[in-house]
Amino acid sequence: MPLQPNIIERYLVNRGSIPGPLMDVAIPAFKFWSMIAAMETGFFEALDGKSCSIEELAEETNCSEEGIENLVKVMEPLGYIKSENGRYELSKAAQRSLPIDLLKDMAPFFKSQMQEYENVAHAIREAPEEGICGWDVVKSGKIGRSYQTTMRWLASTTVDEVVGKIDIPDDAEKMLDVGGSHGLYTLKFCRKYPKLEGTILDWPIGLEEAQTTLDENPDVADRIKLIERDFEQEELPEGHDFAFLGNIIHGIDPEGNRELFQKLSRATTANGTVAILDQVGGVQGSKFARGIAALAGFNLFLFSGGKSYSYNRIKDWFRDAGFTKFDQKKLKQPGFSLVVAQKA
Ligand SMILES: C[S@@+](CC[C@H](N)C(=O)[O-])C[C@H]1O[C@@H](n2cnc3c(N)ncnc32)[C@H](O)[C@@H]1O
Repeated sequence: MPLQPNIIERYLVNRGSIPGPLMDVAIPAFKFWSMIAAMETGFFEALDGKSCSIEELAEETNCSEEGIENLVKVMEPLGYIKSENGRYELSKAAQRSLPIDLLKDMAPFFKSQMQEYENVAHAIREAPEEGICGWDVVKSGKIGRSYQTTMRWLASTTVDEVVGKIDIPDDAEKMLDVGGSHGLYTLKFCRKYPKLEGTILDWPIGLEEAQTTLDENPDVADRIKLIERDFEQEELPEGHDFAFLGNIIHGIDPEGNRELFQKLSRATTANGTVAILDQVGGVQGSKFARGIAALAGFNLFLFSGGKSYSYNRIKDWFRDAGFTKFDQKKLKQPGFSLVVAQKA
């Protein structure tokens, strides 16, 4: 959560009296590592639903009292915890925003990103097509599983809003979730439309994550199947009334997307619907909203040479693939939109 400067501090920051590198390099880095420390040691879990003293926190997390003392000093002004009479508990905002049970598993992915981005200046100089991280890093192993957990958490923050905003015909029977990973979107769509059967398509690492969701939701699991396929290298399965792509097109170059949209056309029925959930370029609004969207776009560029495409560009790919009706719906998270297209 952002450190909140008071009015005088804000004035000093804005006029440059508090040095930029301190605010944008040193402090964010220290913040990042304090969060990783809290995630890895189980600091937030220890405070879940109860208050603790430093000694109790140290014992529960198996950490030194000196280390925990340092961590609480950071987490209090950041707004994650509050203290009373030497006891600490999670703030309301922390309770709302922290996916406590996923934090430990998300840490390896965030840490690996820091290492991968070491060559950031090279990315700016050369703009390598495949970015400076690339998909291979997250396709398997510990980092891959951690990436999938992070995707699960992100989706859990948007799935209700997304599925609430997309209407497909009540008699739609087949949905395809391209790069569906955890499958939370398919699950929610199947709950919203009782006749719908879903197919989640992903690499094996994504399907492992989807299987976890199916195991946890046996009431809907028999309506969802998993299919291992590479959507860039191979054709998509056909005959779907509805296809969903969550955070997929931003990782693919324009030519790859043009091809993918042609595949989507072949994969959907004559009056099929396709919904794209993504960061869509051209964000207007406050500096906060534009800043978050721009930094997220910068991350896509570094990660895989990706970008947030404009609504017009996405519409062009749809039009070329035979879709005729389009709509953009903004989401609460800065920069995120839904683009929904229909063939007829
Ligand atoms: C950014 S995540 C999005 C996950 C999910 N759709 C969401 O919005 O939360 C991208 C997903 O696509 C999968 N993926 C990426 N490239 C792929 C490809 N070429 N073929 C199959 N799956 C791919 C990844 O494994 C990952 O699960």
